[in-house]
Amino acid sequence: METVVSGIRPTGNLHLGNYFGAVRNFLKMQADYNCYFFIADWHSLTTHPKPGDLHNNVRQVLAEYLACGIDPEKATIFIQSDVKEIAEFYLLMNMNAYLGELYRTTSFKDKARQQPENVNAGLLTYPVLMATDIIIHKANKVPVGKDQEQNLEMARKFARRFNNMYGDIFPEPKPFTFDGADLIKVPGLDGSGKMGKSEGNGVFLVDEDKVIRKKVMRAVTDSGPTEENQEKAEAVQNLFTLMKIVSQPDVLAHYETVYNNCSIRYGDMKKQLAEDIIGFVAPVRERILDIYNNEAYLHQVASMGAEKARESASKTLKEVQSLIGFRSF
Ligand code: TYM
Repeated sequence: METVVSGIRPTGNLHLGNYFGAVRNFLKMQADYNCYFFIADWHSLTTHPKPGDLHNNVRQVLAEYLACGIDPEKATIFIQSDVKEIAEFYLLMNMNAYLGELYRTTSFKDKARQQPENVNAGLLTYPVLMATDIIIHKANKVPVGKDQEQNLEMARKFARRFNNMYGDIFPEPKPFTFDGADLIKVPGLDGSGKMGKSEGNGVFLVDEDKVIRKKVMRAVTDSGPTEENQEKAEAVQNLFTLMKIVSQPDVLAHYETVYNNCSIRYGDMKKQLAEDIIGFVAPVRERILDIYNNEAYLHQVASMGAEKARESASKTLKEVQSLIGFRSF
């Protein structure tokens, strides 16, 4: 059976981008693959969360994973920092990651621009830790959104490099989508770019109905098409992309038609989009609240996941230590 690894940083609540970019594929995979889904709390330190927030953020994402339908009996759900083998393997992987290639990574350059006061070494070696997360379980497939494409490319490069230096033990981890389509980028509501946790442009799985309506109604558009079949401005295209993701095909087709014949009313389209998002989010939100408050269950899931993940990670780490040449006296 092929192995799947994927993670999410606990830096805030999950939004539609996380769900449709990654979690939806986790759900489809858990029955047919050997799955490891984890909460990347070490990665989240690269943006310096407050000590008081860290645990709660992890608890929130764990509850959200479970509320979305990830089944701890089928998949291994764990917290990265519970598996210390990852830290040791990361140290070893850093010896074969070169500064030049790390400095050139787009996500490093972006983060260095966004947080010039905090360009830490963890940011630079972020792709090394991510590669370690993936290859420590010998993953074949990694379900992620479009924004993680380059990090995944780096993971393949590091896996290949290790194989070349020490022997062929790691499969090349491939990006994964079910329909064979490209990795997706869920757009935000602010007219440009992707939906994100800190951009203020997202709909979260915990958002109340009225919050969702308000956010969608405020989404950026333009003054409307003036010519038939006019090309869409980015902000408008983004609304259509969201509609394609959450609404029925006939609903999308209707709004495409009225856009193309210039009779569209964005207000109507937004109302429909908001209701379709609510139809999807509301049941998940109820489950998140229930699970979040069930401390005993969260404890049980996290410890079971940690045990399973450690078993797999320590097996690989032993192999790696021996290939590199570590021997005990
Ligand atoms: P993170 O926490 O930023 O995002 C988690 C997942 O959500 C996807 N995603 C999106 N997909 C489509 N459209 C969007 N607007 C959108 N926003 C977020 C991300 O692509 C990701 O799949 N580096 C990772 C965490 C990580 C990881 C790993 C992932 C650490 N180790 C090993 C896979 C394998 C990250 O920061 O994701």
